Amino acid sequence: MTRSVIAGTGGYLPVRALTNDELAEAYGLDTSDAWISERTGIRRRHMAAPGETTADMAAAAAREALAQAGADAAEVDAIILATATPDSAFPSTATRVQEKLGIRQGFSFDISAACTGFIYALGVADSMIRTGHCRSALVIGAEAFTRILDWTDRGTCVLFGDGAGAVLLRAEGGEGDRGILSTHLHSDGRHGDILQVEGGLVRMAGREVFRHAVAKLASAVDEALAANGLAQADVQWLVPHQANRRIIDAMGRKLGLPAERVVVTVDRHANTSAASIPLALAEATRDGRVARGDLVLMEAIGGGLTWGAALARF
Ligand code: COA
Repeated sequence: MTRSVIAGTGGYLPVRALTNDELAEAYGLDTSDAWISERTGIRRRHMAAPGETTADMAAAAAREALAQAGADAAEVDAIILATATPDSAFPSTATRVQEKLGIRQGFSFDISAACTGFIYALGVADSMIRTGHCRSALVIGAEAFTRILDWTDRGTCVLFGDGAGAVLLRAEGGEGDRGILSTHLHSDGRHGDILQVEGGLVRMAGREVFRHAVAKLASAVDEALAANGLAQADVQWLVPHQANRRIIDAMGRKLGLPAERVVVTVDRHANTSAASIPLALAEATRDGRVARGDLVLMEAIGGGLTWGAALARF
């Protein structure tokens, strides 16, 4: 049976980082570090430099994923890139990355599923590998989210940041149990207006989103475990979408995981939308926390509403 194995991970954060106080000062916001950090866990975020594109950040993350996998451009035959902040409607950000990496074969396209984008991209890439459309795929989440924030709306502009993360998936046959075990994708368009881009800027009914988040994430996680005949106790790492520390902690408690088994970056990255999970994965593989053979559970919710979960053995 063909499986998609995560052969490498990579992440990129723009150089400029702003603390909550620096952000409030820079944009003249009536807020405080105490308000933001108590309610969200966010302490700082990175911001793309002027002229630094979503594709630039994505390519940097992809290069690290390729290097970690010991792969070169000639091996990649698909690029699937999740973003809510593409550099243009077309060409897709994925084809811009293809060009930047000097990849001359295969296909590339973008996926729009807001903060759930990486889980969606992973699901699509895994299906395409299993069905023989490609043998390897760069799966990328990349966002220049600070470009679509309303800097007069303190309820949203303090929550997001920029960055990119990537994984290289490789087809592997045989009896091994490494790879993506399953992905579970959901959406419900009835809730589209509680988290949306309107007039080019993010609008959010924060409390409404919060209300949906824990219930929908919990149900996606249960679905993923049941589909694989696994129990909560089998999960070694939770790598959740990084929107809000309170949502992350609630999911960790639900799974009965000690805090040190939950990968958290929201304090330093804020919410980087589709980039948050692959950025967290890159950090946790780079520092040796997530190691070969570990069972990793990923989950996310975002505008759409979209939500989902994925289980992978590293
Ligand atoms: N600083 C200071 N005060 C702020 C503020 C800020 N950055 N943002 C909002 N407030 C104020 C509001 O104006 C409001 O004041 P009022 O009572 O005088 O009208 C008060 O704080 C409460 O606002 P509310 O939006 O109800 O706050 P909340 O407790 O729900 O917290 C969020 C707001 C955004 C932190 C919270 O709703 C949340 O985390 N939601 C989930 C968001 C999320 O995860 N989205 C991404 C999903 S991918």
